[in-house]
Parts: sequence; C-alpha cells; structure tokens
Amino acid sequence: MQISVIGTGHIGGTLARHFASAEHHVAVAHSGDPADLGPLLDDLRGCGQAVSPAEAARIGEVVVVSVPFRAYADLPTDGLAGKTVIDTTNYMPDRDGHIPELDEDRTTSSEMVQAHLRDAHVVKAFNTMRWDHLRDYHHEAGAQVRYGIPLAGDDIQAKRCVQQLIEEIGFAPVDSGGLATGGRRQQPGSPAFLSDQTADQLQATLSAP
Ligand SMILES: NC(=O)c1ccc[n+]([C@@H]2O[C@H](COP(=O)([O-])OP(=O)(O)OC[C@H]3O[C@@H](n4cnc5c(N)ncnc54)[C@H](OP(=O)(O)O)[C@@H]3O)[C@@H](O)[C@H]2O)c1
Repeated sequence: MQISVIGTGHIGGTLARHFASAEHHVAVAHSGDPADLGPLLDDLRGCGQAVSPAEAARIGEVVVVSVPFRAYADLPTDGLAGKTVIDTTNYMPDRDGHIPELDEDRTTSSEMVQAHLRDAHVVKAFNTMRWDHLRDYHHEAGAQVRYGIPLAGDDIQAKRCVQQLIEEIGFAPVDSGGLATGGRRQQPGSPAFLSDQTADQLQATLSAP
C-alpha cells in the first residue's frame, strides 16, 4: 500500500519506519525541504520517498498526520476525498496554545481535524503511546505481550484499514468507539493515555464507566 506520513518527527518517523518494515511504500513530508529527509529515507531502505505535504496528501492511499496539533489547520485538503487519515495528534495547550472549545470539552481535537479534512475519514490512533515505546514495544521486537493501540473513528472501512495496519506492525488494535466518544477515551488525561496495556487490559480500561 502507498502510505503517506505528514510530520516526520518522533511519532511520524517511527511509524514510517514500521510501515516500510511491513513492506509498504511510504511517502514522507515535513514542514521543511523534502531534500532534508535523506537520513529517514536511508532507514526506509528503498521503500520511501520524500515529498511535500500536498504531494503526500495526493499520493497516499492512507495518510498519517503527525504534526503538533496547532499545525492541523495547515494540512492540505486536496486529494484526500474518501481516504483514511490517521490522526496521531494530541492537543497540548502548553505547546499548542489554549483553544477554548477543547478546554471546555465542547469538541475533541480529532473532530477538529475531521472538520478541516472534511472529505476524508479520520481515525484517531497512535496518540496514546510514547514514541520510544511505539518504536520498541512491537511484537517482533521480542515483547512478551502484544500491546494494545486504541483507535477511534466514524467510518467502519477506515477503521478496518487502520486495525490491519496496527496488526501488521506488531500491536493489537482496540476499538474505542466513534471519533467523539472514543476520541475522548484516548486523549491526554484519559486512563488509556500512556497506559501501555495489553489488548484485553486496554479494552477493560476503555469500557470502564
Ligand atoms: N512524542 C510522543 O511520544 C507522542 C506520542 C503520541 C502522540 N504524539 C503526538 O503526535 C504528534 C507528533 O508528535 P511528535 O512528538 O512526533 O512531534 P515532533 O517530533 O515535534 O515532530 C513534528 C513533525 O511535524 C512537522 N510539522 C510541523 N508543522 C508542520 C506543518 N505545518 N506541515 C507539515 N509538517 C509539519 C515537523 O516538521 P519539521 O521536521 O520540519 O520541524 C516534524 O517533522 C503531536 O501532535 C504529538 O502531540 C506524540
């Protein structure tokens, strides 16, 4: 599959490496010159290309968004109609500045991403685990257990696609619900956030009242 990753820092770079190891072709984009992404391309070992964010949106069958949350409004919208977009972002007021509708829990960060990328199918995933655990705790790395990765979204086909990708890179997908309800269950401050649990444990955590 052709996967695009917009934002190639801790989480985006880690996911790009995992997806390339799973034999996907990965287009990577960041805020700067694509030519600066040579070291990451070396790690992708022939399965990667560096492009602009607009090109990443155009060519990706699945597009991962892994930028500081405040940058979501800069994301390209063209070329994403009907596509699965994986949103790894978290709203961090100290970094992103205060956003009243989030501070007052009138909506969630991923619903704001969905509103911006209105023709895409946004799935919130890979936002609960620290980047170095995401790098190291996948099954093939010798972990004794399969760690759960929660995902939230409103489109069943898009969620199936993301579940498959989570499995392919050595984790266990756990459905947390729709973008509003499930998104709240996996955002910063929730019991699932940074919890590093097995799928069964995570399911119980996400189901707790
Ligand atoms: N770090 C974690 O452990 C962790 C865990 C779970 C979720 N998250 C969330 O995942 C997201 C990414 O976190 P991170 O730690 O990977 O961040 P990071 O290391 O700071 O990387 C951010 C990336 O986004 C790129 N970027 C910034 N603005 C952009 C724009 N307008 N267009 C395109 N690319 C842009 C940056 O480009 P440059 O390279 O050009 O600066 C950089 O590649 C955040 O929302 C964070 O809250 C982080």
